[in-house]
Amino acid sequence: MLCSIHKGTCSACVAAAGFLSLVGVCLLYLPDPFALEPRVSVSAQERPVTLLIWTHPFGRHQTLPDCSALRQVGGCTLTADRSAYPRADAVVVHHREVATGAAELPPEPRPCAQKWIWLNYESPAHTPGLWRFEGVFNLTMSYRTDSDIFLPYGYLIPRVRGAKHVPNRSTHPLHSPPRSHLLRPRLLAWVISNWSESHARVALYRQLRRYIQVDVYGSAGRPVPEDRGGGGGSGSVVRLLGRYQFYLALENSQHTDYITEKLWNAVLAGAVPVVLGPSRENYERFLPPEAFIHVDDFPTVRGLALYLLMLRRNPSRLRRHLDWRGGYSLHRPALWAEHYCAACRATRRTRGRTDVVKDLTTWFRS
Ligand SMILES: *[C@@H]1O[C@H](CO)[C@@H](O)[C@H](O)[C@H]1NC(C)=O
Ligand SMILES: *[C@@H]1O[C@H](CO)[C@@H](O)[C@H](O)[C@H]1NC(C)=O
Ligand SMILES: *[C@@H]1O[C@H](CO)[C@@H](O)[C@H](O)[C@H]1NC(C)=O
Repeated sequence: MLCSIHKGTCSACVAAAGFLSLVGVCLLYLPDPFALEPRVSVSAQERPVTLLIWTHPFGRHQTLPDCSALRQVGGCTLTADRSAYPRADAVVVHHREVATGAAELPPEPRPCAQKWIWLNYESPAHTPGLWRFEGVFNLTMSYRTDSDIFLPYGYLIPRVRGAKHVPNRSTHPLHSPPRSHLLRPRLLAWVISNWSESHARVALYRQLRRYIQVDVYGSAGRPVPEDRGGGGGSGSVVRLLGRYQFYLALENSQHTDYITEKLWNAVLAGAVPVVLGPSRENYERFLPPEAFIHVDDFPTVRGLALYLLMLRRNPSRLRRHLDWRGGYSLHRPALWAEHYCAACRATRRTRGRTDVVKDLTTWFRS
């Protein structure tokens, strides 16, 4: 096997990763992570990539996708059958299961040139046991823009004038509301499933409700009305938010790039998100500055509440927070199908290269 020949090419990969994150910064809005990488065409004689899904994230079994149909990523064989381990080009390891002991890491020694891919979409505050995995993985995959394989919870795609848009399950054209639908029947909602007094978002809520009506849904409030079709998911939340002017998109903890489906539910529903998470600059890498209201924009919580109340009385000011929508579609990658396809693509791109994730803890917590 040719393993040793390829050692020492890591500086090239670091440079490539650096370049990609630079592109992200320069474009202001994040580009389509799939469009970011040059298209890798699969020639007929090229061996397909075998990707082994080591555990189904959180133990929830899923049918594995057909990547050529889902994302036009060809030459991928996805499997969750561990007997494929000796011939797998890469193994996707979801952090939670190996950190809690629900699953062991794949066995050593590893097949030559095999890549282990660290998959994690929780925030650092909810990612225990990182220290155990220093120097274990070859590639990272997360919501962080500087991951080896970057795929956020959602991202905007600028709409090209005149181009045909066939809406599908995960890409939704956004619309700026017509004058008659600018004002919505209800004011401000918050859906909260994990109520914890230690979270900054609970402290914010307690202050905010002194000045403005907040309708609370979830385990600590009213139940979210069920989807007629059942099935749960975010469909029912999005439908609920469609009646609201504003939505509290408050992350459970504040970390770099940690912007979750809470934000994108509001964006999809056309409710203006009020965000608590990373800094405003960080959010502005994901969406236009006027597309959200950041709690840090105001010196006091009272100031924030008064601003929201003022917007309801000033449709032209309110419109500024919504007019940007006409130029974008929202893409929300399906967990975990698109992640696996992105991992497959990255495996092909990095074939023959040695990569080692040395400072997982320091990096992920930074
Ligand atoms: C959904 O539409 C988007 C944009 O038109 C496209 O990039 C994506 O490949 C489509 N996905 C599927 C599953 O058709
Ligand atoms: C809820 O929040 C607490 C405090 O941060 C945390 O310890 C716990 O893991 C969270 N639960 C879930 C299900 O996320
Ligand atoms: C993957 O990481 C391991 C552990 O650091 C390392 O020994 C191996 O050479 C790496 N393999 C590849 C293909 O990058």
